[in-house]
Amino acid sequence: MPETQSYLLTTSGPALTSFDAYAQQGGFTGLRQALTTMTPAQVLGELRTAGLRGRGGAGVLTAEKLKLVAQAVADEKYLVCNAYDADMRSAVASSLLERNPFLVIEGIALAAYAIGATEAYLYVRSSRTAAAESIRAALTSAQERNALGRGIFGSQTDLNITLVGVERGFMAGEESSLLEIIKGRPMKAQQRPPYPTEYGLQGQPTVVQNVETLANLPMIVARGGDAFRKLGTEGSPGTKLLTVIWPGSPQGVIVEAAFGTRLRDVLAKAGVPVSESTTRAVVVGGGEGGALPLSLLDTPYDYEPLEEIGVIVGSSIIELLPADTCMVRWATNRSNTLARESCGKCVPCRVGVKRIGGTLEGIISSLGTQDDLELLTDFAQYVPDGSLCGFGVNAVKPLTTAMKYFADDFTAHLNGTCPTGVCEPVRAHRYATKHVL
Ligand SMILES: Cc1cc2nc3c(=O)[nH]c(=O)nc-3n(C[C@H](O)[C@H](O)[C@H](O)COP(=O)(O)O)c2cc1C
Ligand code: SF4
Repeated sequence: MPETQSYLLTTSGPALTSFDAYAQQGGFTGLRQALTTMTPAQVLGELRTAGLRGRGGAGVLTAEKLKLVAQAVADEKYLVCNAYDADMRSAVASSLLERNPFLVIEGIALAAYAIGATEAYLYVRSSRTAAAESIRAALTSAQERNALGRGIFGSQTDLNITLVGVERGFMAGEESSLLEIIKGRPMKAQQRPPYPTEYGLQGQPTVVQNVETLANLPMIVARGGDAFRKLGTEGSPGTKLLTVIWPGSPQGVIVEAAFGTRLRDVLAKAGVPVSESTTRAVVVGGGEGGALPLSLLDTPYDYEPLEEIGVIVGSSIIELLPADTCMVRWATNRSNTLARESCGKCVPCRVGVKRIGGTLEGIISSLGTQDDLELLTDFAQYVPDGSLCGFGVNAVKPLTTAMKYFADDFTAHLNGTCPTGVCEPVRAHRYATKHVL
């Protein structure tokens, strides 16, 4: 098992909410070093050596994305730090903003320096008031201490960060929707290409980077890309912050685990008891995540191994479902919730996810047939294939993993019984009411 230790300082030790406390812990070493002794290309070089991948879900190589904007010839370039936490149950972005706001500011400043941007946006969920207040105070303090503004730390580099608070549901975290919101337009995902790195804010090259991704930059620049590789795997160096949720703790806890740590060990690190008698399934990836049987808990937490078994890093939530969970009911509830979050731009996503939920409702109401399973299998293919953004691609994960790993639950319902005895019919209720009338 790879070595694990606290790295982003969000859960252990005191919160670093004052400029001096952060500086005393070595804060701003990387930024000072970059501004005085490194060119933007050298900063990018360290990020490339580090092999840092985006923590927002897709795992894109950060150095490659930043390079596209760094090399673009343009009047202006912009950086957006995505600290939205689209999945309401994730506390990763808010805990970073709350407990280590100067790390986030330093990370933004380093990325802006690497691409040549002097304007950045910090995009947060406005309902996370403690996080918003913490970062607001830190931005003011950083400005006063010349870590932001004109001529940062006496250099020739300027940076202004604008705080944007938004409260608009799941899709507001998706990068093309997020840029539409900042532009003051309706929240709809956009066709790509052109990618934001070519045509973003004000029609200029723009990088959207997750807040945890950026929080890794100070360390990489201060200690070097090779040092960063000491944790994690060859393909995914470093650590990941995760929100672990279980029935006794719906709010969950935040843990930091090196990529490659087995799911079982992540749960142990969070102090969560897992056994057949208490847990039916482990959902990996948050709202669009998939459900796994306990037999797969030896899988390493990493992008590709998770994808191979049908789940995702997504919003980096790991959730334990109680032993009496009916997985058809679970997939129904998840699909219906996701259907309400679709932005509605593409038909396969807008209609398909709703049809999945409706078909599953029929099955839990003992009205399902074998044909419904075939229909669901078709939807599981058509919805991702016809979707414009990652939301539609992943919205079928609850369905596909429930059908793959918990097929017996579907069979039981087709035979008229709920496997755990918890399901109340959804449709039969309506028919019964009709009958009485
Ligand atoms: C439905 C949906 C919601 C998303 N929500 C977030 C979010 O809350 N925070 C985030 O950083 N990325 C989110 N993403 C991913 C972003 O679109 C984008 O890929 C990411 O911010 C890029 O940063 P990274 O390269 O550092 O990961 C979401 C994507 C989708 C499809
Ligand atoms: S896949 Fe869904 S959420 Fe994404 S653009 Fe299409 S309709 Fe909107």
